[in-house]
Amino acid sequence: MPQQRDHWNSNIGFVLAATGSAIGLGNLWKFPFITWENNGGAFVLVYLVCIAAVGLPIMMAELLIGRRGQKSAVGALKDAAGPAWGLVGGWGVTCGFILLSYYTVIAGWSLYYFARTMEWSFSGFPAGLATGDVFTGQVGNAGLQLALSLGFSLGTVAVVYFGVSKGIERIARTFLPILFGILILLLVSALGMSGSGEALRFIFRPSFAELEADSVLEALGHSFFTLSLGMGAMITYGSYIARHHSIVKASAMIVALDTLIALIATVIMFSVIFSVAGMSEQVGGSTVGMLFISLPELFYSEVPFGVLLGPLFYVLVALAALTSTISLLEVVVSYVIDEHGVARHRATIGSGIAVFVFTIFAALSFTDTPFLSTLAVFANKTGWFETADHFVSNWMLPTGGFAITIAAGWIMSRKATESELLDGNQPDWFNYGVWRFFIRFVAPAAVAAIIIAVLFGVDFS
Ligand code: TRP
Repeated sequence: MPQQRDHWNSNIGFVLAATGSAIGLGNLWKFPFITWENNGGAFVLVYLVCIAAVGLPIMMAELLIGRRGQKSAVGALKDAAGPAWGLVGGWGVTCGFILLSYYTVIAGWSLYYFARTMEWSFSGFPAGLATGDVFTGQVGNAGLQLALSLGFSLGTVAVVYFGVSKGIERIARTFLPILFGILILLLVSALGMSGSGEALRFIFRPSFAELEADSVLEALGHSFFTLSLGMGAMITYGSYIARHHSIVKASAMIVALDTLIALIATVIMFSVIFSVAGMSEQVGGSTVGMLFISLPELFYSEVPFGVLLGPLFYVLVALAALTSTISLLEVVVSYVIDEHGVARHRATIGSGIAVFVFTIFAALSFTDTPFLSTLAVFANKTGWFETADHFVSNWMLPTGGFAITIAAGWIMSRKATESELLDGNQPDWFNYGVWRFFIRFVAPAAVAAIIIAVLFGVDFS
């Protein structure tokens, strides 16, 4: 017997859940790093344009497809655009599955660093400890990696098990305010540091001479990842929205909050880095470098109240990651529920186990495990983890996103999209014609440019 579909209890609960999905490692880990690599200022400006011109219209498109269909990504796309579009939904579910499998591994690292910083806060940061070795030591330890990612997976399953309003929404309503609070504490502390002026100039003063064509594409590619677009996550969350809530207002809030948090995280990290002489030369190496190698040490040498803020920072990373992993698992679970008629509890546990098998592969990618640590499909990408990340960021999200713009802009009727966006609750500033222009022309052209760049070897992972 079909059960009554669960819905978000409140608009704010939904906005927080979707914002929780969007805010994640992309904001705390990837964005600061690519801003760094692309020399700040001008890149940030380009990123803001991409978010507004491409991210926001696609966010509205995904949410409206979901709400209209009241089904998971597969069913909702079939309803919206025709039976063949179920394949695009299936592509998205697969993407969610793969992304979740390795995202959990990085999330697990935040648990490890929380434990270590607690230890250092209580017994002192050991003089001369090389944080680079701490990092390689933990990623190379198979037992530890499996335990951390199992712990994180269990947490994710536990939330999704309780469903949309009692699980996901409740967690978002509790955790996001905590996340904002921690971020503000960190921001206040960072702004008081000697490097904050230089950090703000680096981030907000554009110098277009340093902008390269690849940077534009990187900003565009990242706007998909950070907003959880291109794979049906927002279609899924949209399918739980009630009719009397405005999709346009919700989209604007989600997009604005995600962007704000990414910028705040960047200000925090750069203020710390610029406060230390010579640090800016050392950070260059890698994404993990900033979050898990440079920062831990600096909490104990530079950051005011670092003893407190260090562990809190890793709590922040873990919370941000958890509200993203639950949304990734929900993409898979809602598909199993809606398309295969499985009850939520069984669907959650089954999907959780299936994903975890692949999490094992990702977790062992940095240990000396034949195949998992040596696999080389794409140039410069070694191991299961990097291969999966490359495939998702470069191939799956852009192609999925492109298909969604076509579905919403060209296949669905004007009447169908208009009635969802002009739902009687839309804000005054919203103009349907402008949205339609962006979703039909601007967004697909921009996404097509990413796909073409990938074909020519540009790397977004
Ligand atoms: N937006 C997430 C982040 O910035 C990552 C992500 C991409 C995601 N697609 C998703 C999260 C789908 C949940 C669902 O970290």
